[in-house]
Amino acid sequence: MAASAGIQRTIYTGPFVHSISLTELEICENGAIGVDENGLIAFVEKDLDLRAVQERHSWQDATPVQAKGNAFFFPGFIDTHTHAPQHPNTGLFGKTTLLDWLQTYTFPMESSFTDIKRAETIYRNFVSRTLSHGTTTAAYYATIHVPATNLLADICLARGQRALVGRVCMNSDLSPDYYRDASVSQSVADSKASIDYIRSIDPKGSIVRPIVTPRFAPSCTAECLSEIGKLANDEDAFIQTHISENKGEIALVKELFPDSQSYTDVYDTHNLLTPKTILAHAIHLSKEERKIILARGSSLSHCPCSNTAITSGCAPIRDLLNEGHTIGLGTDVSGGFHPSILENVRHAIWTSRHLALQSTLGDKAKLSTEEALYLATRGGAAVVGLADRVGGFDVGKEFDAQLIDLGNVQDGGLNDGMFDAGPVDVFGWESWPEKIEKWVYAGDDRNTTAVWVRGRMVHRTTRYATHQVNG
Ligand code: GUN
Ligand code: FE
Repeated sequence: MAASAGIQRTIYTGPFVHSISLTELEICENGAIGVDENGLIAFVEKDLDLRAVQERHSWQDATPVQAKGNAFFFPGFIDTHTHAPQHPNTGLFGKTTLLDWLQTYTFPMESSFTDIKRAETIYRNFVSRTLSHGTTTAAYYATIHVPATNLLADICLARGQRALVGRVCMNSDLSPDYYRDASVSQSVADSKASIDYIRSIDPKGSIVRPIVTPRFAPSCTAECLSEIGKLANDEDAFIQTHISENKGEIALVKELFPDSQSYTDVYDTHNLLTPKTILAHAIHLSKEERKIILARGSSLSHCPCSNTAITSGCAPIRDLLNEGHTIGLGTDVSGGFHPSILENVRHAIWTSRHLALQSTLGDKAKLSTEEALYLATRGGAAVVGLADRVGGFDVGKEFDAQLIDLGNVQDGGLNDGMFDAGPVDVFGWESWPEKIEKWVYAGDDRNTTAVWVRGRMVHRTTRYATHQVNG
């Protein structure tokens, strides 16, 4: 079970980059990160050559991995909100918005997960796909089916991707007859069965943990929300749901829960707002609602690709950050059209710029490159309860990392008629901050050369061989 089994002491040398605060990115051009047999960061050196590092730490036997050329180590990305069973629909949303999108695309796809073979194909593909984009931790919604949900947890554990895996609860008649929980007791019993299974395969929750998942208020009756809140409390489990994503949805919540003060109040009165709750979208919340969420210590998942694709709105992330909310990024596949957190970094910045163009805040609404990368790493780590374990290269943290190789223009980028360069053109005169900017705005999975979770390699491309050194 232990994902760390078989790891050799390794020294990762070369440039590394990580967030050290919301607004500051540390770029260390000549670094060395020592990772021990348990996948923990034993030391971080900022200006020593490999031999000096080995001698200083008596790590002469450690395997070196060297980021060469225009390559650097970056913390693994954290996807705080995504729907693995919706992966085949990625990019398909047409002209729909949330409520008709659910009926047209989502429920038919998710209902097919009674077929465990089909589930296996889709889940294996999605975990491979997200790892290849550098996602080392994901908060997954599965479907209402216990066997398929448990299989997703098995796949994440086997592949070594950290995951929160949630069996979806939905018992109201918003859902079609063919895809809904038959009763509240079934919602609770099936959720409990999946929690027990996930805890049985990884008792310490080192890699996979369960998460209680009421889909969103309109999908659950008041009784179901209460019982699910109770289950989460009894199990001391994380909770994930959607909030204030779309104006039609908000009107529906008002209609379905007429005695509640607000959308937020629905969750609050059913004990679903805890410090372990992840709320996706949070686009149209009132000031009062935001205060309640802050007081309960719940966190937010910002899903900019999804918010634009199904035209839900522009989440006011600058304001939410200023108020002190804990925020990470989510791909929200397949409301979101892309499985990559890097793509969502870009779109978080674009969304903030559209808000800046429209609002009196002007430039103050803009998120910087540094801030968006923070949300993708340390921000996300805080959202999923791993702030002390992952998100940056600090001694004592677990080594969740990606080796980003930008290549250079000589790599196939000069050949007339045979242009096969990667997505980023680095000419060689760029400063490191400029190289990082080029990656953020033009990079993709072709640059993600290797990925590690807790020191274990979980993805690599053929280019990785150029970064291995002998002794
Ligand atoms: N609200 C309820 N279910 C969903 C879903 O699957 N995706 C999104 N984006 N919003 C939802
Ligand atoms: Fe979602």
